[in-house]
Amino acid sequence: MPENKTYNEVIDEIRNRLDILDVVQSRVVLKKKGANYWGCCPFHNEKTPSFCVNVQKGIFKCFGCGEGGDAISFLMKINNQSFNEVIKDLAQQFGIELPFHSGNSKQYTEEKQLIKDLLNKSCNYYHNNLLTLSEASEALKYLEKRGITKEIIEEYKLGFSLNHYDDLIKKFKSEYTPVIYEKAGLAVKTEKGDYVDRFKNRIMIPIRDESGNVIAFGARAILPNQNPKYLNSPDTVLYNKSRILYGIDKAKNKMIEEDFVVIMEGYFDVISAQAAGLKNAVASCGTALTVDHVKLIAKYSKSRKIYLAFDTDAAGLKATQRSTEVIKEAFTGLGNLKIFDQAYSSLSDDKYTCEIRVIAPFDSKDPDEYIREYGIEEYKKYIKKAPLLLDFELEQILKDYKSDFSPTDKLKLVKKIMPLIEEIPNNIIQNEYIKLVSEKINIDEKALVREVNRSNMLKTVENKDFTGIVTKSSNIYEKAQKNLLCLFLTGESNLGINYLTEIIKNVKFIDKNLIIIKEAIDKLSYQVNNDVEKLIQALYTQFAEDNELKDIITDLIYISDSFKNLSERDFRAVVDENALKIQQYQIDCEKRELASKYKKLNDDDIESMQFQMQLREKIRNKQKVGE
Ligand code: UTP
Ligand code: MN
Repeated sequence: MPENKTYNEVIDEIRNRLDILDVVQSRVVLKKKGANYWGCCPFHNEKTPSFCVNVQKGIFKCFGCGEGGDAISFLMKINNQSFNEVIKDLAQQFGIELPFHSGNSKQYTEEKQLIKDLLNKSCNYYHNNLLTLSEASEALKYLEKRGITKEIIEEYKLGFSLNHYDDLIKKFKSEYTPVIYEKAGLAVKTEKGDYVDRFKNRIMIPIRDESGNVIAFGARAILPNQNPKYLNSPDTVLYNKSRILYGIDKAKNKMIEEDFVVIMEGYFDVISAQAAGLKNAVASCGTALTVDHVKLIAKYSKSRKIYLAFDTDAAGLKATQRSTEVIKEAFTGLGNLKIFDQAYSSLSDDKYTCEIRVIAPFDSKDPDEYIREYGIEEYKKYIKKAPLLLDFELEQILKDYKSDFSPTDKLKLVKKIMPLIEEIPNNIIQNEYIKLVSEKINIDEKALVREVNRSNMLKTVENKDFTGIVTKSSNIYEKAQKNLLCLFLTGESNLGINYLTEIIKNVKFIDKNLIIIKEAIDKLSYQVNNDVEKLIQALYTQFAEDNELKDIITDLIYISDSFKNLSERDFRAVVDENALKIQQYQIDCEKRELASKYKKLNDDDIESMQFQMQLREKIRNKQKVGE
């Protein structure tokens, strides 16, 4: 009886009846080439097809913009609907009765549409205000002074909100309730219970989603004493500020084309840069960069080339540092950061997952000011010669060095540099940098090598005392296990699979669920003779009742996509890297107790070293006095 079906059962039934080819073909012209179907991606502009449908796996993937997923995610994306909305429509289409389910209602869909419409109308209204009202003359003058031309105002639909408490609310009150205004982020409820405009006497900057729909506003003060300087929309059903980047709608195609992105600090930095022709510039909207922001970027810049264009003052440097941590977090388990230029070393074919560079003009102006004063061509020169993150960070520290530094001064400098050097994953490059640094600040190279080694040892000991760090490395460990499993699901490189089967035998898994999946894969892939399509189906069938495991499997299928098209050599390298990570984690755990015994010994060591250094310094000073 259909009415007894659970929501999940209905979803399964819908999934079974959905045909990815049908779904996609209603929106994209597809052509069969080999095992797959190809067409021009509906999610970004392109003339040669890079959008691929894999019927066996039931998924699609665009190799241009990176968009991908199953039939349901395709519908969500193309119709801009939530999961529940898609399910609701499909149930209707297939004549399946939906059980009652909280949150999926017609009301919700309609409300979202209302909010969208209201935001769009408000955007036009604000824009018109700026262009026509006498009250907006101050704002217009201000923009003019900032070098914002009429064309830019048109292009970005900049606007102006009047200095009234209920101007916007009144404007469309016959069509939208105050509650809709509030849900759109355009009104706030007062203590008395009535609603007032959120934005007053401000320059309105519409914030758009990837497809260009207005979803929020950033609003700049006009008066010097008007606080805050920027007032932003709150998060709403349409707008999640930790997911959206300002300027992404205009930047995305250029990001694909040029394969890099410039992250700036403010709205006007992006506007100035884009308007001057540097289209692949974006900014976060009044928040720090998040992992989701980075993922959004990775979707468009295939080689994940990220230029940070924050201020070079103390606050800006902090932002650079924080952002790089976030970027690294977003790519954990996928490989290392690019840390050296090809010209710099013969090891240029070392694999890396992401490249971070820092744009730092000499007079530390923000991009907006710089471009206005010197022009975009000058700014582009800084992009061209932007140092890699490591070089930038080293330079920042080393520029404090003076030739008359005492040993203690030098030691202080070395302490700042050490974490950077320790992070370099390749020994040869690490030594190159050790050489570079020791020459620059005139210290013994061998001593620095010893320091790095000692600190590595200390770190192993200390790390074991902090559960936080252990959790972090256990995350990497979990990822490595998952990576190994998903390599089975790439559907490529049979030779690689045999290698993988050999290696994985000797790798010890600990996670309970992953062990179950590992054993199932082991057994099933033998039964289906390494046929991936059958392997995936068999896995879904075997764990049909277990949502937790099913989720992990889906996860694995998705991850497996990022290991596609590897040469056999690369495939083996990925196997090795991940197997090594797992083994390393286990060795670390075993060492834990042993290492803590050495801790005291090392502490004593350091003290004695510092003492000796001070002593030497004293003797030297005495000698100087004696001279
Ligand atoms: P900044 O205050 O650093 O300066 O804000 P800016 O972008 O150069 O501003 P202008 O040139 O004086 O107009 C950087 C970004 O931080 C967010 C905004 O996104 C802004 O663009 N911000 C700043 C806020 O959200 N609220 C504020 O009060 C200030
Ligand atoms: Mn500025």
